[in-house]
Amino acid sequence: MPLRFRPDLDRIEAYRPGRAIGEVAASYGLDRVIKLASNESPEPPFPEVTAAIARAVSGLNRYPDNARPELVQALARFHGVPAERIWTGSASNELMLITGLTMTAPGTSAVFAWPSFSLYEIATRAGFGKDLPVPLDADHRHDLAAMRAAVRPDTTIVYVCNPNNPTSTHVAGDELEQFIDSLPKDVLVVVDEAYADFATASDFRSMLPLAATRDNVMVTRTFSKVYALAGLRVGYAVTAPESIAAFRRIQLPFSVNALGEAAAIEALRHQDRVRQRVASNAAGIARLTTALRAAGVAVADSQANFVYAGFGVRAAELTEGLLRVGYIVRPVPPQGWLRITAGTEEEIEGFLEALRGLL
Ligand SMILES: Cc1ncc(COP(=O)(O)O)c(C=O)c1O
Repeated sequence: MPLRFRPDLDRIEAYRPGRAIGEVAASYGLDRVIKLASNESPEPPFPEVTAAIARAVSGLNRYPDNARPELVQALARFHGVPAERIWTGSASNELMLITGLTMTAPGTSAVFAWPSFSLYEIATRAGFGKDLPVPLDADHRHDLAAMRAAVRPDTTIVYVCNPNNPTSTHVAGDELEQFIDSLPKDVLVVVDEAYADFATASDFRSMLPLAATRDNVMVTRTFSKVYALAGLRVGYAVTAPESIAAFRRIQLPFSVNALGEAAAIEALRHQDRVRQRVASNAAGIARLTTALRAAGVAVADSQANFVYAGFGVRAAELTEGLLRVGYIVRPVPPQGWLRITAGTEEEIEGFLEALRGLL
């Protein structure tokens, strides 16, 4: 007799990560593979962070403190928000899933842009809610008016990814704040700021100050991107203490591990290094955007650490051709578009050279 999995499971498409370096190297017989597919930092963690991780190893026989008081205090000081409004987790993916499981149920719905980060759909469907995807506008940006119109009486969550993955575009701070103001106060607005550290546009504004004061706003952040700690899985959110208490009913204990906590606390102390990396990312994005546009490729205006580029009918063939010479890029929706992470200067030049060969 077959096992009785929940009957709606077919509606949930498993998260599809970018292809792994080792697997591509083995499949294509390559010595060197450059991954530009998962929006990771092309640089290793800061040296002080590596040292902090090494120091924390000897304490691994103990469970970490479930409240992570040091990390919470460090984040509270860093952002100037009350410690009781900070919620930590095993990177922002976990926070998103737990939020979905806590806030959705049969008879509820969640609104988010499409294409956007796939976790919003997974979290909604895992919570038995109805997903209400709203197409981006012609400039690949969130269409906030259409998203407002999509909100129904049964909507409990609205997700805004700013800057948006996979399109790299942002919505202006004033526009986003007006949108948040326009929503019913019993709808939780989750502003996913995984890429906010990279945004340099003058009209970009983090919604952290709103999350620090309004109970229906949550901002999620991660150590996976600019802090170069994707492998350790540390993220956090700022929102109402009552919501955090609700989320913790479902969240696994100790979901930030001891090494992750030590690394994150140390990483926050090195904002000079963060600024350097943001600057080199901006240079890489400018180089990729200019070079691709010069080659006739449509590229969205990026405020993130990746570009969204339209290659039309050639996208699949180019993805394959790039793999054969050791560059992994990410096909993203809709068909014909690729997402390319800004690697190091050398990696970007190598990628552009390889692409020119194929074009
Ligand atoms: C928009 C967005 N949010 C959240 C995440 C999740 O990152 P993490 O779980 O590593 O914090 C990602 C990862 O790529 C992302 O693109």
